[in-house]
Amino acid sequence: MFIELLFSDIKLLVLLTLANIINEEENHLLLADDSIFDDIIQMIKWANKSEGHRFDGFSVEELVSGLKGLARNDQNKNILTKKGALPLLKEIITTKYNDGEVLQATEAIRVLSFSKDNKNHIKKDENLIQLLTDLTKNTVENVANAASGILWNIKDDKEKHENVKNSPAKSTGHVMISYQWADQKKLIQISQMLSEAGYLVWMDIKDMEGSTLQAMADAVEKACVVLVCMSERYKESSNCRTEAEYAFTLKKPIIPLMMQRGYKPNGWLGMILGAKLFVDFSGKYSFDDSFKNLSRQLGRDGKIGGDADEVDGPIAVIRSVPLQAARGNGTNEWSTNDVSKWLKKIGLNSKEKLQSLTGEQLTFLKKLSNRAPEFYFSYVKTDLGLHRLDDLMKFTNAIDQI
Ligand SMILES: *[C@@H]1O[C@H](CO)[C@@H](O)[C@H](O)[C@H]1NC(C)=O
Ligand SMILES: *[C@@H]1O[C@H](CO)[C@@H](O)[C@H](O)[C@H]1NC(C)=O
Ligand SMILES: *[C@@H]1O[C@H](CO)[C@@H](O)[C@H](O)[C@H]1NC(C)=O
Repeated sequence: MFIELLFSDIKLLVLLTLANIINEEENHLLLADDSIFDDIIQMIKWANKSEGHRFDGFSVEELVSGLKGLARNDQNKNILTKKGALPLLKEIITTKYNDGEVLQATEAIRVLSFSKDNKNHIKKDENLIQLLTDLTKNTVENVANAASGILWNIKDDKEKHENVKNSPAKSTGHVMISYQWADQKKLIQISQMLSEAGYLVWMDIKDMEGSTLQAMADAVEKACVVLVCMSERYKESSNCRTEAEYAFTLKKPIIPLMMQRGYKPNGWLGMILGAKLFVDFSGKYSFDDSFKNLSRQLGRDGKIGGDADEVDGPIAVIRSVPLQAARGNGTNEWSTNDVSKWLKKIGLNSKEKLQSLTGEQLTFLKKLSNRAPEFYFSYVKTDLGLHRLDDLMKFTNAIDQI
């Protein structure tokens, strides 16, 4: 009974995290009650016990991937550890049921290891360190990469530095392009144009996921400026985070490039970028204009003897207002009374389940309907009880309008 009651919420949550749909602003909506963390951990244990390693359709691998999705939020990282996620993930790796489970569990630990508290937890666990050290030689490249990433994260700054000191010099004083794979094409073009303009550019052309941390660290060390090519995907990538945080630790000058239209960096990325000026390559402006602005920025930041004249408004300032950014037109602040009135207006006031929705949830549902229509429809149908096409239509049309 208890399980059934909970289940629809968890199911939605898992689906959402699997689809990487929950972002920083929306996190609190789904996690108002932190027992959801206990539930997902419990589900993983049940699934692990069952024959096909599944619980109600979800495999251990999928559930762990869902947990990894939850862990992306920095607050959740510590909660998950308090709820026992680390020993669980360690157990999954040790059990080695299949490669998929090992990969998801290792990556989940990597995501967790970005938090300071978790770093210390991991450091203290000698067994885990040994396990991870062995995994760095795993034949599955992504597993090895994730394990190295964890061991890197738990090093303190001095140790990181030492590793790099002894590595062979490639070049010094280059412009380093730190980016997520999805933006590679545009950035290769930028990199070529920068080279033609006389800049020394370092860009990892291979798939970042396969590159060694050593090469990354070396490149950051020797950069005179780092272009952080921001997007939601950049923020969600562990490799990109490692790179950007290292540049930040070493106090390298950073110029953010906007790669995704309308993106507002939040969480750890918002923290690193602060109110830095960015150059917009999201396609909002012509490529040539953006490139001109970038050269101008670099001219100031990177080059010795560069022109320090004031820049006549070439660049926009990042607005990082994480929570405000998600807000619509006041719908968020709707009281139950407002929701009631709205339901009456659209002719759905007889639906009991709708009465308990808050303005904030309505705003979230609206976004969900755009970003993940199939989840939206299944949720509205099953959990809000709008089974008739007519009601579904009314509700969806009205939601579009808010
Ligand atoms: C999963 O099951 C195996 C054996 O059935 C057990 O040894 C292992 O501890 C379990 N893992 C977790 C995470 O519960
Ligand atoms: C580039 O700079 C000009 C002003 O110098 C500005 O009008 C324009 O919006 C900037 N474009 C980008 C892409 O930042
Ligand atoms: C918010 O309200 C303003 C003014 O009432 C309107 O111009 C704007 O289009 C609305 N935005 C949204 C997202 O509904």
